[in-house]
Order: sequence, then structure tokens, then C-alpha cells
Amino acid sequence: MVHAVTEFAIETKGLTRNFGSFCALDHLNLQIPSQCIFGLLGPNGAGKTTLIKMLTTLLAPSSGAATVAGFDVVSQPVEVRRRIGYVPQMLSADGALTAIENLTLSASLYGLRGAVRKQRIDDALQFSGLMAAADHLVKTYSGGMIRRLEIAQATLHQPEILVLDEPTIGLDPVARRTVWDRLKALKASTGMTILITTHDMEEADFLCDELAILHQGQLGVIGAPAMLKQQIGPEATLSDVFVAHSGVTLEEGGHYSDIRLTRGTAKRLG
Ligand SMILES: Nc1ncnc2c1ncn2[C@@H]1O[C@H](COP(=O)(O)OP(=O)(O)O)[C@@H](O)[C@H]1O
Ligand SMILES: [Mg+2]
Repeated sequence: MVHAVTEFAIETKGLTRNFGSFCALDHLNLQIPSQCIFGLLGPNGAGKTTLIKMLTTLLAPSSGAATVAGFDVVSQPVEVRRRIGYVPQMLSADGALTAIENLTLSASLYGLRGAVRKQRIDDALQFSGLMAAADHLVKTYSGGMIRRLEIAQATLHQPEILVLDEPTIGLDPVARRTVWDRLKALKASTGMTILITTHDMEEADFLCDELAILHQGQLGVIGAPAMLKQQIGPEATLSDVFVAHSGVTLEEGGHYSDIRLTRGTAKRLG
């Protein structure tokens, strides 16, 4: 496979996306180094998913540019897609199939066959701690097992870059931890660049080598978690960092529409 010569795994220049008159992502300039776990931290409505969708070639930018693994997302989408794995926010594994069936389906979509396919699937099951449950229907899995399966599915073709949108949302602390361990192990064993979005400070702090704070479509600050905290003060947490750079707390940071949405959901759930 041809690798483009590039210093950064992902680079955006003035990347912008409007929905009608609303600007969801506003002239974003971002450089994500290779072989790190990079976190995009921001409240609901910050523009995280909009950015991820443009980087994974699922949504067209309104203006500006982005390269992923050195390839332009608009003019070279096929090259980009060959080099990325993507775990969307919504569940993507099929509950009516077993783990092996889900993995076989993904492997086939990536063009893997025969002995190579079998070996990759075996390795993925082993590495994800899903060997014992490999023949069980995924609808019987816990949330953490499903996420680990989805990560396995998204990495069967050994991508250079793995993109995960809110990978641990809705998981209990133990399950969350197994997903974090899996991502750290992936980076250590393959040197894969991993981009995650999150609004979970603990996750960003534990997992990310570097992070960027996104607020209302704009980049607040970028750096290593320890460095960002140090800049604020000796006892500072990432929450303090977020407040210092956005002027609001992470909870307050959502747009009105998202707050309304959350409240609507809360009302429906009683
Ligand atoms: N297809 C769309 N049409 C209109 N507005 C959208 C659309 N997608 C996202 N938005 C708006 O763009 C903003 C950013 O959304 P999103 O990228 O999903 O944020 P995040 O993932 O950080 O929660 C939100 O205010 C959202 O309502
Ligand atoms: Mg989102």
C-alpha cells in the first residue's frame, strides 16, 4: 500500500461545516501527530461528530480542507477510507449475529479472505477477550463486550488510523475500563493513531496523550493533559482547563437545542 509522506496523521486547515445559517464547525486548524491517542473533548453540540464525519468522508466540508493519512478527504476519499477504521457513536454491530459472524462480515467488506481472514478474526477475538463468547449472539453481550467487538471489526484491515465517536458513552465504569485498556493495547502493539471524541474528563485524562478542547465549533486549546492542567495551576483538573478555555463548564457548554433534546429525553423517561 502506498503511504503518503506526512508528519501528521490528520491535519485540517480552515475546516468549516455549516448547516443552513448555523456554523457547526468554524475554520478549524488542527494537527494530530501520528501514533498517539488524541482526544477531542467538548460538550454536546460542540461539533465533534460533525468533524469526525468529515474526516471519515461521510460528510462534505462547507469550506476548508483536511488530510487523513496524507490524503485529501474530498478529492481522495477512497484512499482515506482504506486507511481508517471507524467506530460510530451509534451501535454498529449486529445483535442478531454472533461475534464471529459480525467479524466475518466486516472482514469480507475489507476484501479479506481465506486463511488470512481466519487468522485476523482469531487474533481479534483473542485480543478483545471475546474468544469464549465468540459463538454467542451479540444481543446477549454486555455494552463493554459490544464496544470491544466493534473496535475489533473496525481494525481487521489494520488501519493506520482508528476513529471512535464517544466510545464509552453509556458504559459502566468496569466496562469503560476494558475499552480503555483495549485502546491502549492497540496503540502499544500496532502504533496505530487513535482519535476519540468524548465529553468525559476522566476518559480524556486517562487515555489521551494529547487533547483538543472544542467548544461551539471552535478550537479552545490543544496539548497534553498534564501540560494543560499545569498551565492553570497546581491542583487543576481537566474540568478547570475546560472552564478556563471556554468560559463555561462542560455541562453548561451544550447548545440550547441539545439541552432541549436532553430534557425532552429525560421527560420521556420519566
Ligand atoms: N444534520 C444536521 N442538521 C442541522 N444541524 C446539525 C446537523 N448535524 C449537527 N447539527 C448541529 O451542529 C452542532 C454540532 O453537532 P455535533 O457535531 O453532533 O456535536 P457533538 O458531536 O459535539 O455533540 C449541534 O448544534 C447540532 O445540533
Ligand atoms: Mg457527537
